[in-house]
Amino acid sequence: MTGDRSLAPTRAFAVCWSGGSGIAYGLRLVEVLLAAGHTVHLCATGAALRVLVHEAGLPVDLARPDLAALFAPELRARLRVHDLAAVEAAPASGSAGIAATIVVPCSMGSLARIAHGFSSNLVERAADVALKEGRPLVVVPRETPLSVLHLQNLLELARLGAIVLPAMPGFYHRPQTVAELVDFVVGKILDRLAVPHQLVARWQTPAPRTPYDEGEV
Ligand SMILES: Cc1cc2nc3c(=O)[nH]c(=O)nc-3n(C[C@H](O)[C@H](O)[C@H](O)COP(=O)(O)O)c2cc1C
Repeated sequence: MTGDRSLAPTRAFAVCWSGGSGIAYGLRLVEVLLAAGHTVHLCATGAALRVLVHEAGLPVDLARPDLAALFAPELRARLRVHDLAAVEAAPASGSAGIAATIVVPCSMGSLARIAHGFSSNLVERAADVALKEGRPLVVVPRETPLSVLHLQNLLELARLGAIVLPAMPGFYHRPQTVAELVDFVVGKILDRLAVPHQLVARWQTPAPRTPYDEGEV
């Protein structure tokens, strides 16, 4: 008996990194999920690895990437890193028990291929499987400005049931650091996965009045 895994305290997630800017979102999501006791199946496109090196300045050997080394040793036990070509890996199968798939960041290229069912690598296949199984697929696109083609592909995916969650941090929590901006977006992803977190303070009361409100400016 497999039981209902949808709200199990710990679940398995597929986290896919593609070559959009904002690899910090992908890194942080994996870190938080692992720290919360979840299993993470991680797969990165070649472009994502290049962005990782460029944006995070991390020493990743593009020919032999060791993505597990990016995470603290105590977190690695629940991390499964898969090669992009490994279409036999767990996220490629609907019966593997993956609760949800998150493509973060999602490049416009991966977005287009996912929206049209290419399944030409493990990232695209994992997304395709989530759609066919009716499990949450969260895509976190990052591009600006957006062309009509980008918008069409986003709408296509939304119509297919994917959660389109743009990398658009808010500012109403008055972030002071880049890490807080990253956590805003990661917190939004976790909300859609029903993973409890305290990355961002919940909105409760309006911000204090400003001099503008008092008519002083
Ligand atoms: C530093 C860097 C930043 C990039 N930022 C973006 C971006 O924000 N959005 C995007 O769609 N593509 C971006 N690209 C281009 C993609 O990586 C490129 O189109 C790639 O082919 C996507 O491949 P993938 O979908 O297999 O990951 C960026 C590339 C680099 C090197």
